Amino acid sequence: MPAPDLLLAVDQGTGSTKAMLVDPTGAVVAEASVAVGQAHPRPGWVEQDGEEIWASVRGSVAACVAPEHAGRVAGVALSVQRETVLLWDRVTGTPVAPALSWQDQRTGDRADQLERAGHADVVRARTGLPLDPMFSALKAQWLLDAHDADRARTGSGQWCVGTLDAWLLARLAGPASAEVVTEVGCASRTQLLDIGTTAWDPQLLDLFGVPAAALPRVVGSTGPFAPVADLAPLPDGTPVLAVMADSHAALFAHAGWRPGLVKATYGTGSSVMALGPRASSASGVCATVAWRCGDETALALEANIRSTGRTLTWLADLLDVDVDVLFTEAAATPDSDGVTLVPAFGGLGAPWWDRDAVPVLSGLSLGTRRPQLARAALESIALQVDDAVTAFAEVTGPLAELAGDGGMTRSTALMQLQADVTGLPVRVGRTANLSALGVAHLAGLGLGWWTWSELEDGLGAPEPAAYLPGADDQRSSRRTTWARE
Ligand code: G3P
Repeated sequence: MPAPDLLLAVDQGTGSTKAMLVDPTGAVVAEASVAVGQAHPRPGWVEQDGEEIWASVRGSVAACVAPEHAGRVAGVALSVQRETVLLWDRVTGTPVAPALSWQDQRTGDRADQLERAGHADVVRARTGLPLDPMFSALKAQWLLDAHDADRARTGSGQWCVGTLDAWLLARLAGPASAEVVTEVGCASRTQLLDIGTTAWDPQLLDLFGVPAAALPRVVGSTGPFAPVADLAPLPDGTPVLAVMADSHAALFAHAGWRPGLVKATYGTGSSVMALGPRASSASGVCATVAWRCGDETALALEANIRSTGRTLTWLADLLDVDVDVLFTEAAATPDSDGVTLVPAFGGLGAPWWDRDAVPVLSGLSLGTRRPQLARAALESIALQVDDAVTAFAEVTGPLAELAGDGGMTRSTALMQLQADVTGLPVRVGRTANLSALGVAHLAGLGLGWWTWSELEDGLGAPEPAAYLPGADDQRSSRRTTWARE
């Protein structure tokens, strides 16, 4: 039988699960995707159904891997959406309640309470993250208060609480698997992990009321993980080789360990990330574990922006047009004629972290038309990313290049604007789904399919051309108006 010559990468994201087969040249030879829904039972609440997520993993794999390819799969690589929390029964793997999405804001009041009680500094010092409902700890506490108020089941370890990597790994391994594990980069997003020691922090577990017995064991990004037991058409025993948080995997796909590289993922919101040392809390930049390979733990700086793509879809809904119309009009409109949009939907994330901020639309005139609004929305994306990049540069020193990924990188107008606003060359990833590719790259390193330096060289594929910063005579006035609003 020929040696296995394919890797199966699965990216479990907020809106869909994508599966891809990657060969030893790094080429994607098959892809499939299954949509995943969200529920909004109350304003600010965002839930997902664990069983639907699991069905989407199975469905995307079954659609991607033809039966004749199944025996050629050397291993599985998994990237997952971050911060989303699930509570499940350890033995059966059955979710006890819907997962609380990273977008869920129901714990905002509790975050305020803890802040007022003076806990923000210790949380930030241990975890690198500000007190905010986006991170898992407050959501885990909410789930436990609602379903295990006396902590009988979680305290005894009968129920587990964790991020989706831990639950999916448990499901992949099947009921016979002995132990529940979580990948360190995913664990660092829970706000329960001390990122200095990469161990659960007893004081934080106490603060958030999460029993240690309910938490998975933390392992590095290449495991060890149990092999798959139930993922047709793969044979049982196919190894799981690598697991990463999605944004971290995208940074890996850009070979983000190269000095001076910062990446921005353009999705519903955006994650701007670069490897680097921990920043002071004043910078508004978070610290997080990017990945751990062997004994080496890489730390990253991150800025999460709540609303980027979502701003365009909001405007498209409001004006009752297709979002592509807005992209086209924004591209054809050189400036917004003084219109500024600050899309603080659900407050502002990094580097401002202001939950009370409200959206602002200013500079309107009787001459304002849809193209100016579209342009202002597009500019709001580039300017928010620029705020993050500026905050990073204060920590890391000058940056050399911005690597973009995500659906909106298809907009050449946005990418050129981003280069102009940041003053950095912007290079777009070869494929939109970089998270799956990034975790496949990590898995392939372990198999000896390629080396770190071959990954830096893009595995021999021609490098995509960069958008170079042009002379932007409005750069400073645009930034001044933006900062004022
Ligand atoms: O932090 C949330 C992020 O991991 C979600 O990513 O790609 O599912 O929107 P995505």
